[in-house]
Amino acid sequence: MVYQGHNALKGLIIMVYSNFIDLIDLNDRPVSWWKKVIELGAEIAGHPEEYSDACKGKIMATLFYEPSTRTQMSFQTAMLRLGGTIIGFDNPATSSVAKGENLKDTTKIVSGYADIMVMRHPSEGSAKAAAISAECPIINAGDGRHLHPTQTLTDLLTLYKEKGRLDDLTIGICGDLRNGRTAHSLCKALAEFRGNSFVLISTPTLRIPAYITDILSARGCPYKEVNTIEEAIGSLDMLYMTRIQRERFESEEEYAAQKDIYCLDRRKMAMAGRDMIVLHPLPRVDEIAMDVDEDKRALYFKQAKYGMYVRMALIITMLSEKDNKTLLLSGRVHNGVKCTNPRCITNSEHYLPKSFRGTRDTLECEYCDERVMLEF
Ligand code: NCD
Repeated sequence: MVYQGHNALKGLIIMVYSNFIDLIDLNDRPVSWWKKVIELGAEIAGHPEEYSDACKGKIMATLFYEPSTRTQMSFQTAMLRLGGTIIGFDNPATSSVAKGENLKDTTKIVSGYADIMVMRHPSEGSAKAAAISAECPIINAGDGRHLHPTQTLTDLLTLYKEKGRLDDLTIGICGDLRNGRTAHSLCKALAEFRGNSFVLISTPTLRIPAYITDILSARGCPYKEVNTIEEAIGSLDMLYMTRIQRERFESEEEYAAQKDIYCLDRRKMAMAGRDMIVLHPLPRVDEIAMDVDEDKRALYFKQAKYGMYVRMALIITMLSEKDNKTLLLSGRVHNGVKCTNPRCITNSEHYLPKSFRGTRDTLECEYCDERVMLEF
């Protein structure tokens, strides 16, 4: 980690690196790197047994501060299938976190035991915060409402295998687009390929954050925001369903007002093209009727399996990357400015340097990407 900078009217310039190549946000890496991982994932899916010694002697730590079935188990299975071993916790209440240990100390200690560390945490920006003090590469397995890069690698491998391409697609994403980190990472990734257009299906309350639509605009991707599945489904190559994220709402009443609005059923599937595929990061609550599972276009269970293969590819790739570094922070620290997102990691782990990019009028937090209003 390196700090540089000078005191200027606009704030102290900060540069913070980790000593490893981390995976915090897929868009930190070039598309050629994603393609390499996806192609290796496809290759492994065909012959998984050929990789059974690929990570022999290596240890992966999984730190799950939030519930998980697929992400945690697919990472663990991936490492075991590669001949490596695993340590970690999935219930912070049984670790020293329950005694009040901060993220920096837990990360520093566990990353000193392992060769690679996978972390899921309820606060936005937590993976980047962990990478600042980690002593091995970190993989973000979901940081609050923010990002979920390895789900996106799963989604891209599924698209690559099942549609044969990652470009020229009309992509529908439906559900809780405000709180759904899988939707955010997927939009950012698919915006990097030519000819993709987006139909964002949500209630007005659950629209995708402005920083994501800004990225779509900057990449020249056409998008529209609509309220119903019916008005979009006929034009889609892929429909990505997501659940309403109950745990991210301020109150039960707010959740109750949003739940049960979307349900993909056979009647709606009949309005879709023959080649449209349905993906879902899972878990499903009630946004896809069970009888849709029998439809050949419903690929979400297959997608979960691709998740294991792409994570095998990711672990192999990241463990073979040596002597490198990741730029984590390169913004400015403004005295007295704090991130206005209450769930940003900087608001619970107070020792973190609060760093913002952009100009005085439009500052964005470098951990959670939210826009910050300056107060003097
Ligand atoms: C997603 C997650 O945790 O963000 N699940 C997953 O990783 N497969 C989606 C969700 O919880 O709704």
